[in-house]
Amino acid sequence: MPQTDVIIIGSGLAALSAAYHLRYLNVTIITKSSWSASNSMLAQGGVAAAVDSKDSWKLHYKDTLAAGCDHNHVQNVEYLVQDGPSEIQGLIQNGMNFDTNPYGQLLLGKEGAHSRNRIIHAGGDATGKELTTFLYQKTKKYVSMIENEMAIELVIESGKCVGVNTKNNKGECKQYLASKTIIASGGCGAVYGHTSNADVITGDGIAMAYRAGADIADMEFIQFHPTMLHIDGKCVGLISEAVRGEGAILINQNDEAFMSKLHPQADLASRDIVSRAIFYEMKKGNRVFLDISMIENFSLRFPTISALCRKYGVKLELGKIPVAPGMHFLMGGIVTNDKGETSIKNLYAIGEAACTGVHGANRLASNSLLEGLVFGQRLATYLLSQPFEHQTTTNINLHSNKNSNYDNKKLPTKQEIQEIMTKYVGIQRTEEELLFAKQWFESYRDQIYFWDINVKDFTIDEIERTNMLTVGWLITTSSLSRTESRGGHYRLDYPNQVEKWHRKQVFRSKNEMVV
Ligand code: SIN
Repeated sequence: MPQTDVIIIGSGLAALSAAYHLRYLNVTIITKSSWSASNSMLAQGGVAAAVDSKDSWKLHYKDTLAAGCDHNHVQNVEYLVQDGPSEIQGLIQNGMNFDTNPYGQLLLGKEGAHSRNRIIHAGGDATGKELTTFLYQKTKKYVSMIENEMAIELVIESGKCVGVNTKNNKGECKQYLASKTIIASGGCGAVYGHTSNADVITGDGIAMAYRAGADIADMEFIQFHPTMLHIDGKCVGLISEAVRGEGAILINQNDEAFMSKLHPQADLASRDIVSRAIFYEMKKGNRVFLDISMIENFSLRFPTISALCRKYGVKLELGKIPVAPGMHFLMGGIVTNDKGETSIKNLYAIGEAACTGVHGANRLASNSLLEGLVFGQRLATYLLSQPFEHQTTTNINLHSNKNSNYDNKKLPTKQEIQEIMTKYVGIQRTEEELLFAKQWFESYRDQIYFWDINVKDFTIDEIERTNMLTVGWLITTSSLSRTESRGGHYRLDYPNQVEKWHRKQVFRSKNEMVV
């Protein structure tokens, strides 16, 4: 049975940041697709860090809390923004090329709800790809990278995580034992029909941790990015907020710039506000565009976006890009402390899969790559101070279905799940719609509550659908019980922020909601 010091599930920036700092240990990365299929690779805007002399971590901290609607874990936010500049410095010293002016000074972009220009970028608008590839190149010779194998089930013995069961696309199951297991498999964008996320992001790590009994929180807080490229009713890719940072404005088909009437920060208000404004325009039957006519050399500053627009036949010389909001980021996830520890011993989580509380109810733009770097590094530093035990377990069998009612063929399709989430658990929510969705999810009760997933008999597609059901149910249930609006959770029937809700809802699989 393969034994290793550390297993990392997922291969995005948080995973690679942890792997890089743990490189002298025996580290195995397990990823269900190719190493490059992650949301980190798709991130455009950049990394937020207070590196400018006119900026300070205190301002970055204040902006993060304001966007997070008073729901952030303040101590973890301090770690995030204080460690940011040294992380960037460390990367530059190691050879990472961020975009600079001819004097070698970092170019700093602006994004929504930031009081300063502090977005460090690379390759114009390809920051995630440049940064993730850089760390991959630095790390690959030290780690075992297992691609096209999906982590399905955490192996828990005497209350401790001792490894993971996997399945590959030939249907072969394996078990890996490790002293420490890290979930870094991202959020759950694919549970929605319109998303900026990679197709593979089906909430697997969160669902697996939930099944194993880990605490899960803040699932109702979903960030919808205001500007996805919108072609023939479909969202087909991201148009970075950095485009509005360079001066672009949102207009409707009558050329009305509607954001300046709605918020003092206009087009650069926080994402929840801008997304809702676009949603209302579209509900009125209007189409929405980004007016980019004022941005000089658009294709030079935004090469990735320009290529995407060209691919879908958008003529940039006309100065308008059709946009609509789409699911972008999950603020909740597996509850962790500042070191990445979960409620299960020897199980850790980082990146979007984790809920450190840094993003509160609504993430500040470009704080996600920062989170991956900072919390990947923090976890690695902590683990290096810990003892590593070799797992001696040899008698753990891969589970087979113990639930006689279970019928794989009754699982809904991915598209059915996406339709329910988009229609009933979207940008604007009501009790009636959420109740409908909850009942729909609970009609698949055996799949949702099933304690031991059927590793042997499920196909990878069935496991993904089970994970999507689990995560969709968690989002729906926590949205229904939070009778207020805050950040990424907007209830039409409870439109205000309410003091009694100044708390988290924590779910644990055996007894459902625990707080
Ligand atoms: C963007 O470039 O607009 C996305 C960056 C982020 O989500 O922080």
